[in-house]
Order: sequence, then structure tokens, then C-alpha cells
Amino acid sequence: MADNGQELAQTQRAHWQQTYGAHPHMYGRRPSSAAVHAAAVFRAAGAGDVLELGAGHGRDALYFAQEGFTVQATDFSPLGLEQLRDAARSQGIAGRVTTTVHDVREPLSLPDSSVDAVFAHMLLCMALSTKEIHALVNEVRRVLRPGGVLVYTVRHTGDAHYGAGPDHGDDIFEHGGFAVHFFPRELVESLADGWTLDEVHAFEEGELPRRLWRVTQSLPRG
Ligand SMILES: C[S@@+](CC[C@H](N)C(=O)[O-])C[C@H]1O[C@@H](n2cnc3c(N)ncnc32)[C@H](O)[C@@H]1O
Repeated sequence: MADNGQELAQTQRAHWQQTYGAHPHMYGRRPSSAAVHAAAVFRAAGAGDVLELGAGHGRDALYFAQEGFTVQATDFSPLGLEQLRDAARSQGIAGRVTTTVHDVREPLSLPDSSVDAVFAHMLLCMALSTKEIHALVNEVRRVLRPGGVLVYTVRHTGDAHYGAGPDHGDDIFEHGGFAVHFFPRELVESLADGWTLDEVHAFEEGELPRRLWRVTQSLPRG
């Protein structure tokens, strides 16, 4: 990143905290289409537990729990996770959801081969350098069990906001205070090195609309 990455990350964390404070449950209470698809993929793979990265206020973590998965939800915004916990309590599913404040630029605090599935909707395309994204996917690989599945979504270089707004380098552009790393296709391919790349599906979400890829990749079964 051309800018000081550390400084950008701190600004982003404060921005997300402020946004969840001003707009509780901003993504709504229904699951994303990516999570509905991922639940079916995880079930077909025999997964029982899901680690969600960048869970926000938990529209998808709550859905996974309602669908019977045990969920570990992480985000670097304590406020988003507080809204997630409140919703889990009021829905009577608090026993199936745990939350941890975690910045994905740090290693995951989980043992090797300890989770069945990982989900990350619009997290890898946050203000992370290409190097940090590779390090994160290596961490996901470390904590997944053999046969484990990763489903992630990212905005890509075909998105209308790609190239617009302040340029932080490394395909990261800022719009409305949110910095986004727009993925080129080569990055998707290189993140799947050593995995099976099961699917790259293009879809849209929201009113802009955001243009995203939903990527499914899995590890060999032992
Ligand atoms: C675009 S939002 C998506 C939230 C959620 N996945 C959803 O779709 O409802 C991105 C989320 O990633 C979180 N986030 C951004 N950078 C992060 C980082 N470095 N570590 C952990 N969480 C981060 C933000 O707090 C925010 O909740």
C-alpha cells in the first residue's frame, strides 16, 4: 500500500465502529445470498462448525446458527459483535454462537486443523494489502481440517467504484470513508494455490450494485 497500512487500518476500524453505532444492523436481518449458498456447500461437505471472518453485526453468523452450525464469529468492530450477540440472545441461539474481536491482519487464535468451514463475506476486500490477504488465506488453511472448505466473497475490478476516489495503492480505493481492495482475477487464482478452486461465481449485491465474486475453495481430505 502506498499509504501507511497501519494508519489506514486504524482509521478503517474507527470508521466501522462509528458506522455500526450510527446504523445498527445496517446490512439487515436477512442472510446474504452468499451465506445461503455457503450453508448448502458446508452441509454437503459434512461441516458442523463455521468460522466467520468479518461477521459485522451477524446477519450471516445468525443464519448459520439457525441452520444448526456451531459458529465462531470474528470482526475487528466490538460494536458489530455486540449487536450480533444481542440478536443471538433474542433469537435463542446464543449457545451456538461465540464472538471474538480479531483483526485479520493478525494470526488466527485457533489451533491447527480445528474448524470444518470458513466464511468471509466482503472481508478479504477490505483495506488489506495483497501480502496480508495471502497471509490470511494461509492462516485459514492452517486452521481448517482436511477436506475443509472456504467460501469468500470480494468486490472485483469490474465494480463501478474500482479506480474511483482516493487511491491507496495495491488496488485499494476509498469511497465514502470505506477503503476497498478490488480483486483482479489473478489474485483469486493465486489464493487458491494448493487448494481445489471449486467455483468462482459472479454476482451483485445492494443498490450500487456492488459487483462481487463468490469463491469456493477446498482442501484435500487427509
Ligand atoms: C463490508 S462489511 C461486511 C460485514 C458482514 N460480512 C456482512 O456482510 O454483513 C466488512 C466487515 O469487515 C470488518 N473488517 C474490516 N477490516 C477488518 C480487519 N482488518 N479485521 C477484522 N475485521 C475487519 C468490518 O468491521 C465489517 O464488519
